[in-house]
Order: sequence, then structure tokens, then C-alpha cells
Amino acid sequence: MNREQWQIHNPDGQFRVIVTKALPGNRWLNLLLQANCRVEVCRLQTVLETETIQSAIGNRCDGVIGQLTEDWNASLFEALKDAGGKVYSNYAVGYNNVDLHAATRFGLPVGNTPGVLTETTAEMAVALTFAAARRLGEAERYIRAGKFKGWLPDLFLGTLLSGKTLGVIGAGRIGSAYAKMMVQGFGMHLIYHSASEKPGLSALIDELNRFRTGQHLSPVTCRFANTLETLLEQADIVSIHTVLDDTTRHLIDARRLRLMKPDAILINTSRGPVIDESALVDHCKNHPDFRAGLDVFEDEPDLAEGLKDLDNVVIVPHIASATRWTREGMAALAASNVAGVLCGYPLWDRADMTPFLGDNPSKAVPNILNRLELRMPG
Ligand code: DGY
Repeated sequence: MNREQWQIHNPDGQFRVIVTKALPGNRWLNLLLQANCRVEVCRLQTVLETETIQSAIGNRCDGVIGQLTEDWNASLFEALKDAGGKVYSNYAVGYNNVDLHAATRFGLPVGNTPGVLTETTAEMAVALTFAAARRLGEAERYIRAGKFKGWLPDLFLGTLLSGKTLGVIGAGRIGSAYAKMMVQGFGMHLIYHSASEKPGLSALIDELNRFRTGQHLSPVTCRFANTLETLLEQADIVSIHTVLDDTTRHLIDARRLRLMKPDAILINTSRGPVIDESALVDHCKNHPDFRAGLDVFEDEPDLAEGLKDLDNVVIVPHIASATRWTREGMAALAASNVAGVLCGYPLWDRADMTPFLGDNPSKAVPNILNRLELRMPG
């Protein structure tokens, strides 16, 4: 381990915790210091290889906060276990980079950071929807290139969202928050496909319709799509909010892209591999009126050949959760997962994470993904 690349806080602390990237704010660090941890933070901005993390774990390591860009596979969990490790937390809500079964096999609790990304990520999905619908990327490049010579009746004609049909794939926390923003804010009809029907969404739309009727506005509709195909055929905008696992890899492939309307808009703020990115490039080339807004990519940080040259695609570098409030909140939750397990605190049993975000955080462990498998007491 290169000592110059790691910043050490509280060298004599009882527990050794490594943090593979510097995290925003100070609250997370204070939480670990208050739990008497020696905290070693990697100063490198690059993605750490498995061998580098393994050597950082060394002979003794009680806990780790790692990143979604790292491959937390069986060999890392074995190294952590052998070093006396007691807990790992991902600095993310998504955990497709973590071999949860391996962690469980080695008896290691794995934490993540739910509850503080919901609105932030949904807002980015809204931003990408508008950027794609109103061609913001293209229009900005045009004006910056000095091409704007005056108002024209047909300059950058885009898509009106109001009254159109919004398709949401995966109506969990983030998908539902996005649906709510779009339907309430812009009067869109909703069709969603999810593991189960969401009575909360229907109730929300009933309430919205009571308001709309009072305003002499036509009601909006809410439908559950039994199949993904139905949603793809009917929606004008399709936004992806599923987790990435073996069942959702390339969920949107060439065949399913062809089912979509030729002028539909596809938004992805979940995980890149849910879309076959090369198929999307081909589809966008062949359908100039089709648009996409992407925050995530199949092989980050690389982009599929030809993607960045397409004017009908808006791309941002995996920043959907990048607000200060959210990233500091994620850091507080990851630190509380690690500190909480090391201090023997009970597991938190509510979805509301705000008690971990203030000055006197709860003495509990916010969220352990394999708590049932490990039979951790509540
Ligand atoms: C997550 O937490 O899974 C997000 O992708 C981070 O932006």
C-alpha cells in the first residue's frame, strides 16, 4: 500500500476502516472518528483495481466503505474476512458491483445507502427527459458554435410532454418519485411496468384528477402494463428505473427498441447494461426522431462506438445522485453502516433515513442488505 496515496485520520483508533475514495462533507468522517475508528482514505481519483484494494485491506481491517465502480467479488470479501473484517458498505444504493452471496458466505454484512437518492435521481430523470424532448444539448452546441443568426419558426422543434404517455419501467422508490413529478407537474398519462401493481400511484392520480376536474382540465390516466412490450408500444417517453441483475441485463435490446414509437424518448438513470448500448446507437442512427437521455452507460467510463456523435442523444457522466445533500447523506449512511456494526448497534427498521442525517444521528445501523441471510438481530 502506498502510504502517500492514503490519508490517515486518528492513527491510534481501535478499528481500522478503509475508505476507497474521499467522500463529500465531514459528517461521515466524524461518525467514524466518534466510533473510535482509524480511518484511511484513498486520495486517488482513479478507479481502484481489486489488487490495490486487497493490498489496502492488508492483514488487519475492520471495515470498508467502497465504490460502485469497484468489483466487490469473492476474493475481496475473503481478504476482508481474513483481515478480521466485520462489515462492508457500498457508497451507493445500487449494489450490482457486489457479490452479495460471497459476502454472506464469509459472514460479512453489506450495507448500502437507500432513501437519500430518491428525489435527486428522479429530478435528473426529469432533467434528461426535458433535455431530450426539447433538444437542449443540440441547441446549446449550436449557439456556442456561433450558428444562431436569429429566431426562426422551425428552429429546434421538440416534443411537448403535456398530455403524452409516460412509461415507467420499475416503479420502486425512484421510478415512483419520477412518475409523480412528471404526472403532477406536466399532466402526463402514466403506464408502468413493475414487479407488482402500486396502489399508491393510482391513489395519487385519483387525487390529482380531483384537482384537475376542479380546474376544468381533462383527467390523466394510470395503467399497469402486464408486459414490458405493452408499455414500450404505448409510451411516448420511457424511463428506466430497474435494478441491474441477470434478469434486466439488455432488457432494452434491438427487438424492444423496434417496438417503441419512432419518435419516442428513452431515459436511463438506473444502470447502463440494462440497455444494449450498441443497439441503441444503431436505432438512433436509423430513427433521427427517436431521442435518448442517458446518465449511465454499459461499460463506464467508455461509451459505445458512435454514441457521442449522435445529436439525438443527451449524455451526462453518471451524476443523477450528484447533489451535495444527497452525496453527503450517502456518506453519512455508509459511515453509519460501518460504525454501527463495529459498535454493535441494532439494525434500523424504518425506511426513513433522516434520523441519520442530522447532528445527533441515531445509534443504529441504517441498512444491511444481507441481514436476513446473516440472521442479524433487529
Ligand atoms: C447509486 O447509488 O446506485 C447511484 O447510481 C449513484 O449515483
